[in-house]
Formats: sequence, structure tokens, C-alpha cells
Amino acid sequence: MLTILFLGDIVGEPGRSAVIAQLSELKRRHNVDFIVVNGENAAGGRGITPKITIDLLRAGVSVITTGDHIWDQKEIIPFIETEPRLLRPINYPAGAPGGGSIVLNTAKGKVGVVSVQGRTFMQPILENPFAALEQTIATIREETSVILVDAHAETTSEKIAIGRFLDGKVSAVLGTHTHVQTADEQIFPGGTAFLCDAGMCGPAESILGRAVDPIVNRFISNLPAPFPVAKGDVRLCGAVVGIDEATGRAVKITRINELIESPGRDEATAATPSSEKPVGV
Ligand SMILES: [Fe+2]
Repeated sequence: MLTILFLGDIVGEPGRSAVIAQLSELKRRHNVDFIVVNGENAAGGRGITPKITIDLLRAGVSVITTGDHIWDQKEIIPFIETEPRLLRPINYPAGAPGGGSIVLNTAKGKVGVVSVQGRTFMQPILENPFAALEQTIATIREETSVILVDAHAETTSEKIAIGRFLDGKVSAVLGTHTHVQTADEQIFPGGTAFLCDAGMCGPAESILGRAVDPIVNRFISNLPAPFPVAKGDVRLCGAVVGIDEATGRAVKITRINELIESPGRDEATAATPSSEKPVGV
């Protein structure tokens, strides 16, 4: 069996640090052969930089998928042409920098990874993801039937439709973008493992990884404001998928959802006057 660890949207420095610190333990505990993470919010919540890409790859990540925030850090545009393990969505128009899929060798055979972006309530509106996937998956299957797809989309319906569309053609379809993990992990009849949203790797006491008050105030006031990444303990979310490497069929899928205490947690708690201690501490 070939085991893939997939981690959902890494949010900012807290998410990056937790992922990098936890990777070797997760790898050991789940007997992981191959690691894929979504890194499109890794740079302060917006995009990913060349340095962060290199840090994640050095920590043991095999492939980084992305989505609508891929170009937020402008230096990524020339860099992505030099690093094929950083994927942008496959359904960009022809001529876009970088690639949306890759096939890599492992000790247990080749693994294909595809990044695709949905179109419902998403900006920019890219090419039809179903048509792009059909073409790309057919090409990858000439090399390997072990294929993981990151479906980066807003709506549950579009992600489930992509999963059902690819059932029997890929090993796993794992959703990202909403940062809230769903509890619908399953293996479809054709052998494709599915999870509608893997969830994020980012601050737990937050709104989708951002500090709570600015987001709440934005909804109340409708005024523009900065949305800093929150601090504190990190919720690390994703899934482990076991795949029969001979057939590409998923054998099992297990959700990952762990609270990782922030390294500065004890000092922060100790420094907080008792009258100001947050509820629950
Ligand atoms: Fe996104």
C-alpha cells in the first residue's frame, strides 16, 4: 500500500511552523510515503513565496498545490517556472506560468498530483475544470493510476461533482479553499477516496485563520480593513489516504484534525493577568 498525507490550506507563519514541526511525526505515525500540502495561504494568508516553497519542500513535502491566491506574491510568477513541484490550478488558460500537474517517482511507483480550481463563487473564473481534468487525467494515467487531485473550490456541490466525475479515474479527490474541514470522508464505488474539504492548517482561535475582531467588524461595518493572521495554537487538518499502488484504488481514508499547541503558549498564558485571561484557559 502507498500512503499519501494531504494537508489543507496552510495559513501564515503559525500554519507553516506547525506543519514543518509536525511532518516527521505525522509521517512516522501514519507510515507516509508521499506528502502533498496546499500552500496558497502560506505567506501571511495570501499566496506563497519562493522561500516558503523551498522551506516546505526541504521539510519533506513532495508537492504543493494552490488555488485562487497563487499569484498574490508577485515573485512567485517567475519562480513557478523553475519549480515544477509547486502547482497552480490546471484550468488556467494556455500560456499561464507554471504547471497544474506533476508525476513523481517514489519507491512504490509513480504518483500523479493535480491542482484544479472550481468556478462557482470563485475569482478568477478559470476554464471548465471538468474538461481540463478529463484531458490531464487521461495523460497522467498513461504513466500511473495513482493520482491525487486537490479540488480548490467554494461550494460543496462543485467539489462533490468533481469527485464523482473522477470516481474510478483517480485515487483521491480532496477539497480545499473553505478552511473548514468536512466530515464526509468516504471511498466512492469506483475506488476514489473523497473528502469535500480537508480543512486548514492555521490558528484555531480565528475566522478561517484570520484574527477574529477585524473580520467581525468588517461584517458589521462593511469598511475595508486589514485582516491579520491570528496567533496561538494551530489546528492541523488534512487526510491520510491508503492506495493500492497496483490498481490506483483507494483502500482507506482517515481525516487528520489535531490541535498543535503554539511554542509560546505557556509564556503567553503566564504573562496574561488573571483578570484578562481568555475564557477556557
Ligand atoms: Fe483559496
